[in-house]
Amino acid sequence: MLDIPFPPFCAFLGSLGLLCVALVSAWCQHWRGGFSLDGGSRTFNWHPVLMVTGLVVLYGAAALVYRLPNTWSGPKLPWKLLHGGLALGAFVLTVLGLAAVFRFHNSNGTPNMYSLHSWMGLGTVLLFSCQWAAGFGTFLLPWAPAWLRQLYKPIHVFFGSTILMLSVASCVSGINEKLFFSLKNGTTQYKLLPAEAVFANTLGILILLFGVLVVGALARPSWKRPDSDSLDSRQPLLSAER
Ligand code: HEM
Repeated sequence: MLDIPFPPFCAFLGSLGLLCVALVSAWCQHWRGGFSLDGGSRTFNWHPVLMVTGLVVLYGAAALVYRLPNTWSGPKLPWKLLHGGLALGAFVLTVLGLAAVFRFHNSNGTPNMYSLHSWMGLGTVLLFSCQWAAGFGTFLLPWAPAWLRQLYKPIHVFFGSTILMLSVASCVSGINEKLFFSLKNGTTQYKLLPAEAVFANTLGILILLFGVLVVGALARPSWKRPDSDSLDSRQPLLSAER
């Protein structure tokens, strides 16, 4: 593997994440009519923007906090707060993104939860919620015993990557579904590959690339905190003030 340090790679990933947010916003603004809160299709447009921003980009940023060399020494409290805070921000945007699509469906009499995308998406959000609650209870609150933190840490790490890949899969299936729903007439049929399809397909590939690079960065041994399995790193937030 290329021997590059984490910070420039992180800057590249940050730019890629921002590009994904910019492209999904541009797609909804330019081709899908923009944004509103009236319950119509412009309310739906918040859904892809908030899901990509929350459950992919912010979530990916939260996952990578402990790969920053600055987190390896000094007080851990600010980094734990940053990790949990970014994940909480991702959760808030996710809930708002789901509210947008449910409001759109309910205002238009469209049934809820019929598609593979919706089942996978909601399953991902439920897993993410459990992950956040279990992480909060185990690593943040003082009463979880050390053996429980030790037992749970590899599970938390495994589901961290799994949830990100499920989020990416949900986004890709959602983009695909939206293109099939929207591009059906005349010269804009999906199979004729109009400009919107090229744009949104590219967005899907970039989201996939972002997810793969984050999971790759998480798995790379030389970017892991050297003492990541030490007892110290398993201390609860409220007693790890060093
Ligand atoms: C992590 C990301 C995502 C999650 C967790 C997610 C989750 C969901 C859920 C639970 C629904 C069902 C809402 C209902 O039944 O009322 C839904 C609907 C929908 N989503 Fe997403 N979504 C995600 C990203 C996207 C993206 C990026 C798009 C791109 C446009 C998209 C397009 C759609 C569409 C078209 C629907 C309506 C049709 C349907 O119910 O399948 N989603 N999404």
